[in-house]
Amino acid sequence: MGRLENKVALITGSAGGLGLEIATHMAKQGAKVILNDVNEDLVKQAVMELQTEYEADYVIGDVSNKDDVTRMFNQIIERFGEIHILVNNAGGSLHTPRVLGEIEEEHWDKVLNVNLKGTFLTSQAFVKHTKEKSGGKIINMSSIGGRTASLVTGVAYAAAKGGVISFSRRLAKEVGRFGINVNVIAPGLIISGERMHHLFFEENTEEQRQQVYSEIPLQSLGEKEDIANAAVFLASDESRYITGTVLDVNGGRFMG
Ligand SMILES: NC(=O)c1ccc[n+]([C@@H]2O[C@H](COP(=O)([O-])OP(=O)(O)OC[C@H]3O[C@@H](n4cnc5c(N)ncnc54)[C@H](O)[C@@H]3O)[C@@H](O)[C@H]2O)c1
Repeated sequence: MGRLENKVALITGSAGGLGLEIATHMAKQGAKVILNDVNEDLVKQAVMELQTEYEADYVIGDVSNKDDVTRMFNQIIERFGEIHILVNNAGGSLHTPRVLGEIEEEHWDKVLNVNLKGTFLTSQAFVKHTKEKSGGKIINMSSIGGRTASLVTGVAYAAAKGGVISFSRRLAKEVGRFGINVNVIAPGLIISGERMHHLFFEENTEEQRQQVYSEIPLQSLGEKEDIANAAVFLASDESRYITGTVLDVNGGRFMG
């Protein structure tokens, strides 16, 4: 018996990277997983592969667009009747500049909209559908960049991921009485795909890489599955009495 048997889980931004890893681990634990992304081709491909072994579906849409979010949740309720787990994973720095002087208004809006407004919109829709039922689990993806200041992290990204933490704590207070847990995962640097691989291994010098390793007490970068394991735990009954917390999954690089 899986740890998430019969649970319906929406994982946003899950065409690849950490989102797909989380979806796969949840499916292995018996959850019916619903992938979401703006990249339709990639998400369809990912779902087809998952469907060979697990129950999986998808909803296409932009998490920062209210109409898209409303439609996505209507589709989920139509198809599955209910939803139990929401993972707000869609996000990142979205190819925007890091340094204050280079950030245009449109960069700021894009990063804040996907990472923070998206988390608000999907959480609002999720709570609407779950509060009269048996509760649920919201897991929001922040970052080490939202926990502590680093020049590697962009200004807008730091603001958005810090916002995700404050939003989650405040929401945890509000919805605890409905049996809804709200928690945050704050990953350190994880090579989640080609982009992160290029960023770390091609754009950094060996010296810069050694500097990163020297800051990590556990002395290696994390793997995608380290994040997925944390997400499965926070989605399962094992985390029944945990809400409003931030789980730092970073090898000890930042200790909250
Ligand atoms: N990889 C890391 O080192 C790391 C570290 C800390 C935090 N994180 C966070 O973890 C999450 C996943 O990171 P990743 O490395 O897998 O990134 P990724 O870029 O591989 O995946 C993000 C996915 O979100 C999708 N997406 C973008 N905008 C969207 C929107 N508006 N609506 C729906 N989907 C959208 C993208 O198409 C992509 O598939 C992000 O929130 C990121 O900030 C990652």
